[in-house]
Amino acid sequence: MPLEISPSGQPFAASVTGLDLSQPVSPDLAEEIRNAWLEHHVLAFPRQSMSDDDLERFTLLFGPFGDDPFIAPIPGRKHIIAVKRAADETAPIFAESWHTDWSFQTVPPAGTCLYGITIPPEGGDTLFANQHLALEQMPDALRQKLEGRYAIHSARNAYAPSGFYGETDRAAGRSMDIRPSEDADATQRHPLITRHPETGREALFGCAGYIIGIEDMDQAESWNLLTEIYRWQTQPQFQYRHRWQQNMLLMWDNRSLLHMATGGYKGHDRLLHRTTIGSN
Ligand code: SIN
Repeated sequence: MPLEISPSGQPFAASVTGLDLSQPVSPDLAEEIRNAWLEHHVLAFPRQSMSDDDLERFTLLFGPFGDDPFIAPIPGRKHIIAVKRAADETAPIFAESWHTDWSFQTVPPAGTCLYGITIPPEGGDTLFANQHLALEQMPDALRQKLEGRYAIHSARNAYAPSGFYGETDRAAGRSMDIRPSEDADATQRHPLITRHPETGREALFGCAGYIIGIEDMDQAESWNLLTEIYRWQTQPQFQYRHRWQQNMLLMWDNRSLLHMATGGYKGHDRLLHRTTIGSN
C-alpha cells in the first residue's frame, strides 16, 4: 500500500493513510513517517486498530520511551499513561493550557503519541501552536528581548503538592492517576530560542506555565516578558485544531509545537493512551 500524506488545510499537520499500524512497520516506512512528521509536526493516522503493544512498538520506531513523571502508568505497562475523563467528572480538564510535554526535564521528550480509544461525539479537540512560525513571524523588537536568554522551567505550578494537580485536585476526584510530588520543585534551564535537533530550524521552546521565570531577570520583568511571548506564540494563525476520531493515532513533535487539551464534552467519557518519544 502506498503511504498517502494529506495536509490538514490548516497552517500545519497532516493525515496519513495507506498503512496498518497493528503490523510491524519496515525501516523504510518508518523513515518516510519520520520525514513526514518533521515536515508537518503533527501526523494523524485515522482508522487504526491498535493494542497497547502496537502503540509501544510504533513509539519505539522514533526513539526510546520518554520518562513520564507525576502520572502513574496504566496497569501492566511502564510507558503508557491514560489521558482520561469520566462523563460525570467535575475536576478541571487535564492539560487545558498551552505547554510542551515535560519541558522541565533535562532532556525533554522529542515527541508524543496519543491513541484515541473513547472519543466524545463533540468537544475534546487538541490544539497545537507551531513555534517555528511564531518565531519566524515575531516582530524584531520582541525577538531582541529573547535573543540569548534562558528560561527556567519547572513542574512546580502543576505537580507540586500545592500545584494545580496537587492535593486540592486529588480531592476533586479526578479519574486520571496523577501523583503530585515535591520533585516537581526542581528547575531546569533551556534557551528560549532553540534549534530543532533534526531539521536545524529555529523555534521558541516552551511557554509560561512550565516556564516560571527568565534567568538573570527579576520576577516582575520576566513575567511581563513571558506574558508578551505567550500572547504572541499562541495566536490563531499559528494553530492547528485537531478533531479526534475513535481508533485514531496522533503523533506530534514537542520540539516545534505547543499544545493544549480542550473541553466541551460534558456528559461523555474520553479515554486516550499516551506514550512519549524520548530524545535520542
Ligand atoms: C496532553 O497534553 O497530552 C493531552 C491532550 C488532550 O487530552 O487532548
